[in-house]
Amino acid sequence: FGYLNYLVKRDRRFIADILINGLHRLEYRGYDSSGIAFDGDNVNENSNSERTCILVRQKGKVEELEHAVKILSGINWEGEYAVHVGIAHTRWATHGEPNAVNSHPQRSDDLNQFVCVHNGIITNYKDIKQYLTNKGYRFESETDTEVVVKLVKYLYDKHKNENITFQKLIEMACSQLEGAFALLFKSVHYPGELCATRRGSPMVIGVKCADQLGANHIPVMFSKDLRGVFTPPLMIADPITADLAFTPNDRSIEYFFASDASAIIEHTNQVIFMEDDDLAVVKNGALTIHRTQHEVTGQSIIREIIELKIELQEIMKGNYKYFMQKEIFEQPESVVNTMRGRVNFTTRKVVLGGIKDYISEIRRCRRLILIACGTSYHSAVATRQLLEELSELPVMVELASDFLDRSTPVFRDDVCIFISQSGETADTILALRYCKQRGALILGFTNTVGSSISRESHCGVHINAGPEIGVASTKAYTSQFLALVLFGLVLSEDSISKETRRRDIIDGLQKLPDLIKEVLDCDKQICEFAENLFEKTSLLVMGRGFNFATCLEGALKVKELTYMHSEGILAGELKHGPLAMVDDNMPIVMIIMDDLVKSKCMNAYSQVQARGGQPILICNNDDEELLALSNRRITVPRTVDCLQGILCVVPMQLLSFHIAVLRGYDVDCPRNLAKSVTVA
Ligand code: G6P
Repeated sequence: FGYLNYLVKRDRRFIADILINGLHRLEYRGYDSSGIAFDGDNVNENSNSERTCILVRQKGKVEELEHAVKILSGINWEGEYAVHVGIAHTRWATHGEPNAVNSHPQRSDDLNQFVCVHNGIITNYKDIKQYLTNKGYRFESETDTEVVVKLVKYLYDKHKNENITFQKLIEMACSQLEGAFALLFKSVHYPGELCATRRGSPMVIGVKCADQLGANHIPVMFSKDLRGVFTPPLMIADPITADLAFTPNDRSIEYFFASDASAIIEHTNQVIFMEDDDLAVVKNGALTIHRTQHEVTGQSIIREIIELKIELQEIMKGNYKYFMQKEIFEQPESVVNTMRGRVNFTTRKVVLGGIKDYISEIRRCRRLILIACGTSYHSAVATRQLLEELSELPVMVELASDFLDRSTPVFRDDVCIFISQSGETADTILALRYCKQRGALILGFTNTVGSSISRESHCGVHINAGPEIGVASTKAYTSQFLALVLFGLVLSEDSISKETRRRDIIDGLQKLPDLIKEVLDCDKQICEFAENLFEKTSLLVMGRGFNFATCLEGALKVKELTYMHSEGILAGELKHGPLAMVDDNMPIVMIIMDDLVKSKCMNAYSQVQARGGQPILICNNDDEELLALSNRRITVPRTVDCLQGILCVVPMQLLSFHIAVLRGYDVDCPRNLAKSVTVA
């Protein structure tokens, strides 16, 4: 979040409050630490005095930062100033545990000459860090962001005699960056200026004018010669330079920058959405947008000032009514984030940086033991078969509570893998400590950097699904599933006999995001099934093989959200009990993929049908045999057998979601359940 006022008198307390309030609005995106930076002096009147930048960073929730700012001493809070710049950030760690030093704003040096906040991942940060270390720079944090701000300082020192502009400086720095980012910069060397740029991560600019006219009515100009035609409220790029300008004509104005409009909407509904490789600069109250990549082909050269007509709550959830729904629909992106920087689809190489030094030790182990609770446990069940196949090791999957109840024997040459979205589930932590005490190697697979499980593991993998707010886990499940598949691929790297299999899986991974999108397109059809089911009292979910876990997870979603009785049933066990429940009234979902267990699943289907059951099928969209069999079906695209579960679980997530909505329940916070179960 960033803020700049121009010719609008504000005191420093106001600036701090506005920054913190912005962070509160963004807190739903992640909240393990936060920080703000704002001007320490009046940039108008003391133009010759030494400039300062106040930086406050704090581990924990935004309210802890708020408290830290309140008790800051040595600041003159009084006095109104007409120009002020501040930037702020709430963090969900990807590099480095959550603590004050790893929080943003990151700084160039002890004097906070340049400060920057960042969303995303700089993939080449190690190279830049090495380069700057060789030049004598010392790094204080473990973040990838610190290299960005230090790089800016390095370029400033190199070019300051040429009177380099802030814009040019940021442009030069960004040309060295790889990865995904949305960045905001401020500097004591460029008072009253703010730079924002993005590539891959979102950024929106809010424009608020103090007069009644609103931003639309303020003259809009090109930064170069006026060419072509423009119509407010559009900003049209100069066709040659691709630069855009928005000038307030000496009117008072405030600018807001944020990762999403939720932090802006209470101040103004006039916003400009930045596009990749846009560099927005505010200087002397004028906003200009420049292109850091100068080819404009294919990209719009218009940045429109849009009037947002949405409510705050709505924005936080995007176009979705519920966080869970948003998280289900985020899966095409969250799976990409799990694979980002780890899978090279050209060389078909997979690297898991967090465990790479332990791979040979893992390969020599007696067995792999996967331990977790709830949905995380199901991700272990889902990938067990593949891990057995790829590692050729015995693989146990265990519910943490039961594992402890049994005082299960654990040995020094065991590898124990703890899977947890939150990284804080008490049973899982207790099982981890139990195994650690017995000398086993401990791996943590979590979605939360700096969580207890991350910290107490010897090594691990962050699944990088992004914050999950809905209590019922959805995108974390598919990312855990995927991270475990990547783990299997890493373990089998040296095996020549598995080369074809590995290649098929990696090719399958590449297509996965698009295939998930295809499944999500069935939402409306799934909603219709939900309309037929929502008044029922029970739902059985049957399948086997790679999709047994999908049945367990699907049934868990139904239970959690709809409070209906639901069971995930291994189709192979049908004759040993569950068949007794089947009659023409019992709602059933059967997952039958075109894989090695298909004929066995078909047997189960016949048995259910013979008892009057009319299951809804989840099957492949090109399986003619099944398509001819029934119209009561939800189809999913074909992928490699071991990845099919990622696609098949999505209809179950949607089905349970719609049933719960139809039953009138709070989807994001089901009764009696908590997101993080921190008591055993
Ligand atoms: C709770 C949540 C579930 C989650 C389980 C394990 O029951 O409601 O969604 O699967 O805990 O949590 P973890 O954070 O360890 O994955």
